Amino acid sequence: MFKLLILFILQTAVLHTANGDSLAMSAWCYWSKDDLSDMESIRSQIINKIKYVEFNSTLGKYVGFTETGVRNAEAWNKDTARLQALKAEVDTVCKPNAGIYYSNILSKTVEPQVEVVQTKQSEGSHLSWLMCSAYSFYPKLIKVTWLRNGKEIKSDVTSTEEMADGDWYYQIHSHLEYKPESGEEISCVVEHASFKKPMSYKWDPSMSEPDKSKIAIGASGLVLGVVLSAAGFIYYRKKCSGQWQNHQEPSRTSDGSWSPHKHRSSGGETQECLMNPLHLFNTCFIPNS
Ligand SMILES: *[C@@H]1O[C@H](CO)[C@@H](O)[C@H](O)[C@H]1NC(C)=O
Repeated sequence: MFKLLILFILQTAVLHTANGDSLAMSAWCYWSKDDLSDMESIRSQIINKIKYVEFNSTLGKYVGFTETGVRNAEAWNKDTARLQALKAEVDTVCKPNAGIYYSNILSKTVEPQVEVVQTKQSEGSHLSWLMCSAYSFYPKLIKVTWLRNGKEIKSDVTSTEEMADGDWYYQIHSHLEYKPESGEEISCVVEHASFKKPMSYKWDPSMSEPDKSKIAIGASGLVLGVVLSAAGFIYYRKKCSGQWQNHQEPSRTSDGSWSPHKHRSSGGETQECLMNPLHLFNTCFIPNS
């Protein structure tokens, strides 16, 4: 059973005096039931960080915690009109504010973003680890279960972590350790107030998203490399054939490697152009001999 204890800060006021003392007053509304039937109003007075007297609407009177507090409580508790007014704050202040709180915040729901990923796989023991993660949902209450061929898996769920994102949203991670069998269907079922019915997310063992994107990045890199290589090679060929006459097509030697080509420039001296496609930006050079 999910129980919510809500504190609602109505007002706080702190008074600092010239000699460094401080007087603080706080007003709180406490409730745990949706029908607000257990609503309680608490007003505390605090001197130098010590709560010395408090009004509790359930008690209907002040209670003192220090000598000064007890003295004050005795005096104020004689003022029945004051006590009545403070008790009435449950209905005049707390409940209307709680109503606003419910309609604006507590009744709102935000759907979780769910994914099922494989976290580990061991070849030897044929075990597999899956993680079902639900992100960015509100409110906190959520249920994550695992199904194998439509039947709930109860024994192999190793752990569940629930975390507050710190911005009203929550995330949860449920881990499953299991022995994969061929033809089976594993799915993660999420129940949340934002869903009309429990939502099922199938584990797709074919290929995970991160793997797909890694392959896509690798393939793009390969294509880019091939295009740049081709461009460089063409540029190199153009440069060589433009600079020297008697240009020859590159040829391979009998052992299959690329051979340097001799060219005759307009000046008559022999130059070499190393036709190795892997050294695309090598320029032709004049040998020492
Ligand atoms: C107010 O008084 C009631 C009755 O004694 C008690 O149960 C409750 O915890 C008090 N509330 C707070 C916030 O102290």
